[in-house]
Amino acid sequence: LRETLGLAVLGAGRIGCLHAENLRGRVRGARLVAVADPDPGRARAAAAGARAVAEVHQALADPEVEAVVIASPTDLHPGHIEAAARAGKAIFCEKPVSLDLAAAAAALAAVQRAGVPFQIGFQRRHDPGYAAARAHLEEGRLGRLEAFRSLTCDPAPPPLEYLRVSGGIFLDMAIHDLDLARFFGGDIAEVTALGQALVEPAIASLGDVDTAVVALRFASGAVGSIQCWRRAVYGYDVRTELFGSAGKVVVEEDFATPLRRYGPDGVATDYPASFLARFRQAYRLELQAFVDAVRQGRPPTPGPQDAWAALLAGVAATRSLREGRPVRLEEVAW
Ligand SMILES: NC(=O)c1ccc[n+]([C@@H]2O[C@H](COP(=O)([O-])OP(=O)(O)OC[C@H]3O[C@@H](n4cnc5c(N)ncnc54)[C@H](O)[C@@H]3O)[C@@H](O)[C@H]2O)c1
Repeated sequence: LRETLGLAVLGAGRIGCLHAENLRGRVRGARLVAVADPDPGRARAAAAGARAVAEVHQALADPEVEAVVIASPTDLHPGHIEAAARAGKAIFCEKPVSLDLAAAAAALAAVQRAGVPFQIGFQRRHDPGYAAARAHLEEGRLGRLEAFRSLTCDPAPPPLEYLRVSGGIFLDMAIHDLDLARFFGGDIAEVTALGQALVEPAIASLGDVDTAVVALRFASGAVGSIQCWRRAVYGYDVRTELFGSAGKVVVEEDFATPLRRYGPDGVATDYPASFLARFRQAYRLELQAFVDAVRQGRPPTPGPQDAWAALLAGVAATRSLREGRPVRLEEVAW
């Protein structure tokens, strides 16, 4: 077992700040060494006493940095992965791995050449609810999986500057559900996507949609459906259903505070306000899993193949929406 693992966070925005906070004392065996962000205020705030630098290469040149958490905008992921792999650092990279398959293939080839550990940021796999659902399935308690259903609703669309380099709703948002589809149902064979920009006209001007559905056909013969809405006025709504020959499980969290209010209009509860609230524990657990795996010399999970396969499904869904037809994943395979 290695001593504590020294980590740098690359990109100190919404999610990078949370990763940095977790690495400052909430992840066993980890030590936050540096934070890189071109915005000096953000870098300093996230570093909170660790080294704050403007450039990624400054963090990579630091011998105390043994691993990186890539939380920069998605279009920068492949460059940051390749630089970290060349520097021999273990890599945790936020989803999606890249905006396109060519850059993803090059970055993941660099990881393989360097032989460095790699984990992709599909935190739902580490959420206690999803992990328990998977155990149910593996123990045979659902029988044969026949249908998969997953819903992700953001409270409001992210800023346009974020959306411009996000890769569109299927690579940015549905990719979590596409990964869950694979986590529970195995290989996806075909996708059919529909979508509209109903919330924000500027989203249409980016060529993107904010309200989308994806129908799935699994290689096993099972079917699935994914719904993604960019605006849910009541909060962050995420739920997933596994329907099997012997029963079903639903992963959902119905309130943020364990409180129901009973009144003349009925019964009310509150709701998780954002992904940061709903998945706070999962974000910590995924980093704990990464740090444990690197320190113990095991490959972390979900790994490069999971990063690639979810991206492939997202690219296929994007193509399906553009071309108005079902798209088989083997059509977009590299
Ligand atoms: N797993 C999840 O649930 C989840 C949630 C949110 C975001 N993400 C992913 O994390 C990534 C970041 O998203 P965000 O919402 O935090 O975005 P954000 O725009 O809030 O933050 C991005 C940060 O990167 C910084 N940055 C820009 N150029 C940089 C560079 N060259 N080097 C280092 N930092 C640089 C920016 O200054 C900013 O602080 C995206 O890929 C997104 O898909 C994942």
